[in-house]
Amino acid sequence: MNSAPSGVTVLNHPLVRVELTVLRNVNTGTDLFRASLNRIAELLFMEATRHLETVPVPVTTPLVETTGAALARTVVLVPILRAGLGLLDGVLDLLPGAVVPHIGIARNEATSHPEPYYTKLPACLPEAEVIVLDPMLATGGSACEALRQMKAAGVTRLTLVTVLSCPEGLAAVTAAHPDVRLITGVVDEGLNAFNYIVPGLGDAGDRYFGT
Ligand code: PRP
Ligand code: URA
Repeated sequence: MNSAPSGVTVLNHPLVRVELTVLRNVNTGTDLFRASLNRIAELLFMEATRHLETVPVPVTTPLVETTGAALARTVVLVPILRAGLGLLDGVLDLLPGAVVPHIGIARNEATSHPEPYYTKLPACLPEAEVIVLDPMLATGGSACEALRQMKAAGVTRLTLVTVLSCPEGLAAVTAAHPDVRLITGVVDEGLNAFNYIVPGLGDAGDRYFGT
């Protein structure tokens, strides 16, 4: 894994880099983009769930009684609308029983500031393991706002999963939320004049939804 700010894990796994090459390619269509993002979500999620606590449970194999494991807490997956939905399918394959509230945040096109437009959260958040999903960490404004909302709702066990990040976004999130675990696929060079990640993959929401 690459060196990164404290609390940040950069997966930089060969399979993630291969899938990212598909996502970055301007000629990749919606169908391939979706399939590739699903696969990356699964790869990132193995790392993003490594810290989850388990409790022992009895299990009977064909041979003997032994001890298995069950997750100690409810896992809550919070996709940031819209593009965060692109990570959900892959992750739900691994955690089919997860609770899935949504928060809607749109970056203002002129200012790049995050504008929250929808929040629906369950009461179980303070006791849960909460994992916020968004493929892109650019200025970090949207992620910081989502994490702020989670903490305001009483969340104490908080992880952010992003596919593509940049130094500016990592600095913003780690400064505002040093207590949050952050998992990212790779760290790109930086932002352009319009606050898009370079080399990046363009607008993740538009490419995932074909809009
Ligand atoms: C994108 C992306 C992040 C945000 C990242 O969403 O999915 O949420 O921008 O940028 P930031 O780090 O500078 O805040 P966008 O606001 O374009 O909305 P969308 O998902 O509906 O396309
Ligand atoms: N949002 C995106 O979808 N892509 C970027 O590069 C920056 C913000």
